[in-house]
Formats: sequence, C-alpha cells, structure tokens
Amino acid sequence: MIFSSRLLLLLTALIQVCLSLVISDSHVASSCIYFLRKKSWQCSSAMGGHMSSSTWMCQCTNIEWLGSITNCIHDYANSTEELNHAYSHIVKRCNLRAKTDYDVNDMKLYQSNATSYLEDSELFPKGTNVTAPLSVRPSVFKTWYKTFRDYNYFISMCQRLGWGGVGFWIGIIGLSVFSLVSIDWKL
Ligand SMILES: *[C@@H]1O[C@H](CO)[C@@H](O)[C@H](O)[C@H]1NC(C)=O
Ligand SMILES: *[C@@H]1O[C@H](CO)[C@@H](O)[C@H](O)[C@H]1NC(C)=O
Ligand SMILES: *[C@@H]1O[C@H](CO)[C@@H](O)[C@H](O)[C@H]1NC(C)=O
Repeated sequence: MIFSSRLLLLLTALIQVCLSLVISDSHVASSCIYFLRKKSWQCSSAMGGHMSSSTWMCQCTNIEWLGSITNCIHDYANSTEELNHAYSHIVKRCNLRAKTDYDVNDMKLYQSNATSYLEDSELFPKGTNVTAPLSVRPSVFKTWYKTFRDYNYFISMCQRLGWGGVGFWIGIIGLSVFSLVSIDWKL
C-alpha cells in the first residue's frame, strides 16, 4: 500500500509538471520569452521569481521588453500564421498575469516601432539594465533554440504520456485494488 501510494504521488507530481509545460504552446514565443528572461529588465530583484506574475508585470509594462519580444518573434517565426500565434501567446500571458489590455495589433505596433531602436542583445549581459529593444543574433538564438527544442521534446513526451496516462491510471487503480485485496486476505 505504501509503495503504491508513493507511486501515485509521484505520478500525480509528474502529470502536474507536464501540464504546466504543455501550456507553453508556441515554440517561437516560448524560446524568445526564455531567452529574454536571462536579461535584466529593471525589475527589482525582490520581484525575482522565475514564472511569477510580478516578472510578467514588470516585463509586460516595459517598452524595451515589448519591443524585444515582438522583434524576436518577428525574426524567428517561420510563417504569418506562426507569427500571429506567437503574438497572441504573449498577449494572453500579459493580459492574464499583468492585467494589461493588449491585442495582437498592439504587438505589431510595438514591433514596427522597435525596428528603429534595435541594439544587439549581447550588449546587455545579465546585470546590465536593458535600455533599448534587443535584436537577437541568429548565431546566439540558434544555440538557444536547440537547447529549447530539447526541452520541448520533454513536452511532447508529456503530451504522449497524457494519452498513455489513461492506461497508466487503470494500471495504478488495478495495483491499488490488488494490494488492498491482498492485505485484506492476509488479515
Ligand atoms: C537597474 O534598474 C533597477 C530598477 O530601476 C535599479 O534598482 C538598478 O540599480 C539598476 N541597475 C543598474 C546596474 O543600473
Ligand atoms: C518606441 O520604442 C522606443 C524604444 O524602445 C521607446 O522609447 C518609445 O517609447 C517607443 N514608442 C512608442 C510609441 O511605443
Ligand atoms: C523554422 O524553419 C527553420 C528552417 O527550416 C527550422 O530549423 C526551425 O526549426 C523552424 N522553426 C520553427 C519554430 O518551426
């Protein structure tokens, strides 16, 4: 019984991690978000937190971040469809976590404005407050994107586990019932 309840706990935890990952549904938006998160956006370190809403609050209201994220997406989205999908990913996150009121068209405006102010992202290492919208060099982004794709592989594994999970749960229930029965039997 102890064995199966631990297994149940582990499985529940794994499914929770998976669910939180599957939510990141736009590759290009997510890789841009995580790439830019390595920079300093004049958020006080007290705001810290990896995915906390204060991080979003700080970024979504920072004009340099808005210019950088939209420019990154614009540079690396492979199609108009992907571009709009990635923009709406940002809009949803900002409106939800930072209570902003953006739409996809705002993102397009931030992007076209940013093109006149772009600075190379490598000019602002972590700890240096970003004071301009960033352009991300392909060589830098590619390395990053590859790392990110590996992480995305884990996500797709999770998605498959979602289906496999049905069978998994049946197995777990079977196991618990079996151990219950066998305990009863011993008593
Ligand atoms: C960056 O910005 C934050 C918040 O405005 C400020 O507290 C900090 O001193 C700045 N850091 C540098 C290195 O300028
Ligand atoms: C355009 O971008 C620059 C640099 O990020 C920013 O200072 C300015 O406020 C932006 N203008 C508009 C209208 O968003
Ligand atoms: C975009 O296209 C390039 C080259 O075909 C490919 O390497 C990359 O994975 C694609 N990116 C996305 C987000 O699909």
